[in-house]
Amino acid sequence: MNYRHAFHAGNFADCFKHALLIWLIGALQRKPASILVLDTHAGAGRYDLAAGPAERTGEWRNGIGRLLDDPPPPLAEYVGLVRDLGLYPGSPLLARRKLRPQDRLVCCELHPEDYATLRRNCAPDPQVAVHRRDAWEALGALLPPRERRGLILLDPPYESPDEFDKLAAGLCKGVAKFPAGVFAAWYPVKHRAPVRAFHAAMQASGVRDIVAAELLLRAPLDPARLNGCGMLVLNPPYRFEQEVPPILAALLERLGSREAGEETGMLRLVGE
Ligand SMILES: C[S@@+](CC[C@H](N)C(=O)[O-])C[C@H]1O[C@@H](n2cnc3c(N)ncnc32)[C@H](O)[C@@H]1O
Repeated sequence: MNYRHAFHAGNFADCFKHALLIWLIGALQRKPASILVLDTHAGAGRYDLAAGPAERTGEWRNGIGRLLDDPPPPLAEYVGLVRDLGLYPGSPLLARRKLRPQDRLVCCELHPEDYATLRRNCAPDPQVAVHRRDAWEALGALLPPRERRGLILLDPPYESPDEFDKLAAGLCKGVAKFPAGVFAAWYPVKHRAPVRAFHAAMQASGVRDIVAAELLLRAPLDPARLNGCGMLVLNPPYRFEQEVPPILAALLERLGSREAGEETGMLRLVGE
């Protein structure tokens, strides 16, 4: 396990993922019934952008660094939470901030150091459980939740060439155990072929109601660069396809490269 999220914290891909995460949790909270948020690849929880790995790569400067001043309305809640939380918050701390008293957050993180840091960052909290546990195993073991409503965020590091295959298998396993769950899986767009294969695998899986939201900073031609990213959502909440495009447009307007091929996309892969 070589991937350390600290090098990338607050970059454009984190902004995309976290802005959508905030929207998805808010959408599930339109009803008063309790929800579970399961963060299967949780990371360390918070990151100092002014020191260490994040400072060395400086990726955040073209991400959250471009949003902090006067955020556009579709990003205001996300940026407001980042400001309130201080050091750049990862998905677990953002999700925790969104919980209502009746909701729960469960986090899985396998890396020993990031797990230990996450535990410290989540200090004893009756609404939060942190496990040093394999994400793919947890999907079988922790679902369905007692709440019967929930969001599962899958954010693997894409270190191994078969990560898209594991993700497709994990989504199918998770939704088989929890058919009413909202599953949101982040993926990189370096070049098109692996993304097309992943979409095709999900279309062939028999799972219904699948939409992908994408943000491309440039045409995905150079496989050595992170040219964009996407979020594949199973069982997207009501109005996902109407309310997410303004978030994507605001991200592109602030974070775009102005290079050929920059664009946003909403792709309905499988009908309801
Ligand atoms: C992209 S980072 C997560 C970032 C985090 N979701 C956020 O948005 O702040 C991926 C994390 O998954 C962890 N990881 C890798 N393989 C895992 C596995 N099989 N189960 C659980 N965690 C894993 C890595 O150590 C890394 O911290």
